[in-house]
Amino acid sequence: MPRATFTFPSGFYWGTATAAHQVEGNNLNNDWWAWEQQEGRIINGDRSGRAGDWWAGRWREDFDRAHETYQNAHRFSVEWSRIQPELDRWDENALDRYRAMLLGLKERNMLPMITLHHFTTPMWLVEMGGWENEAAVDLFAEFSRRVVEALGSHCNHWITINEPNVLMSGGYLGGGFPPGKNDLKAALKVMSNLLKGHAAAYQAIHTAQSEARVGIAHHWRGFLPANRSPLTRYSTNLYNKVFNEALPQALITGKFDAVMLKEDIPQAKNTQDFIGLNYYTRELVRFDLRRRSEMYTQLSYPKDAELSETGFLNNDPQGFMAGIKWAAQFDLPIYITENGVEDGKDDFRRKYLLEHLHAMWRMINNNTPVKGYFHWTLVDNFEWERGWSQRFGLWGFDPVTQLRTRRKSVDLYAEICRTNSITAETVEKYCPEVYDRIYPV
Ligand code: BGC
Repeated sequence: MPRATFTFPSGFYWGTATAAHQVEGNNLNNDWWAWEQQEGRIINGDRSGRAGDWWAGRWREDFDRAHETYQNAHRFSVEWSRIQPELDRWDENALDRYRAMLLGLKERNMLPMITLHHFTTPMWLVEMGGWENEAAVDLFAEFSRRVVEALGSHCNHWITINEPNVLMSGGYLGGGFPPGKNDLKAALKVMSNLLKGHAAAYQAIHTAQSEARVGIAHHWRGFLPANRSPLTRYSTNLYNKVFNEALPQALITGKFDAVMLKEDIPQAKNTQDFIGLNYYTRELVRFDLRRRSEMYTQLSYPKDAELSETGFLNNDPQGFMAGIKWAAQFDLPIYITENGVEDGKDDFRRKYLLEHLHAMWRMINNNTPVKGYFHWTLVDNFEWERGWSQRFGLWGFDPVTQLRTRRKSVDLYAEICRTNSITAETVEKYCPEVYDRIYPV
């Protein structure tokens, strides 16, 4: 049987990623909280409620979990509506709590990476039209400046906005996020404003902190044509251009080209210091005349797909390699800012995790500058419109009792973090069913 150890570069960052609304609890003052109170918005009528109770201090025990299992980095987000509860009011107490979390990471020797905007928008801004209103651009930059001034002595890795493309399609192309619109024009306007918001925040952050490293967490999703028809190919290209390319290319060139909206945004040119890549899966695209509201396309998984617990994702590590290859074109350091799978039973995650980390190793071995990996996520959390029906945590979690349970994947990931490698023993011990795929004869 072939055996080998796949070693990662020394100093590699191993961590998990979280987001404020999904773990803090009682975020009463943003659009998602309001959304959850409306009937029919969230699967099973679930609500974020106390979530993982981080706002009450339970981040301490969860950071211990991460630290004790050899993670040396953590990505979390700050909640805008807590720090700026009203247009002209700033809450120093909220900043103090985030400072305590940063100190908590420092004590545990973990590198912090802060996300400034992870899907939630304060209600006062929503009342002004949210990201459809260009005023959001400067407001976000001002918020970012304040945060960096307050917390910059303990953190210098910043993600301005998490997944602008998912925020856009979720909220404005019928994807189940607030404000629940299906309006292409509004969607493209939002995307353009998010891009401008990022660019303005990039400058504000660098003015406040010269050593800052700033990026976006970009959701890259592979799109492959489901058949050879020219219309299907056209749809696939369209998805690629609008969802995958428009925003990241504008960060290089200052030219935003979302096919149906083209705009020169020169201030966005060269506004990232690293690429943050969120990868989950690839999909097939098929042209379908009946689906007007979905830009005449149907998305699906291949027939031989290995689907996750709720059919949400395909285990497609080749797609991860394609995504990393795509990210490498920008010639910047790459962080995998999210990657993971929902699996309450924890019999799929180990396979997904091992194969994805092996795929990442192969890309690094090809000289791709991946510097760190943040698994989604540490403990089960509130999965947006899917509520508590999906379990992405290394640790399981009961939202009623707050009880955490250690899944086997914890030990698998810990072994990889501790040894900074994937060994044949680890594969044999935690997931022998993928041995042949990782060590083909
Ligand atoms: C988001 C996370 C989310 C994860 C899994 C990503 O698109 O950034 O907030 O929980 O997907 O659904």
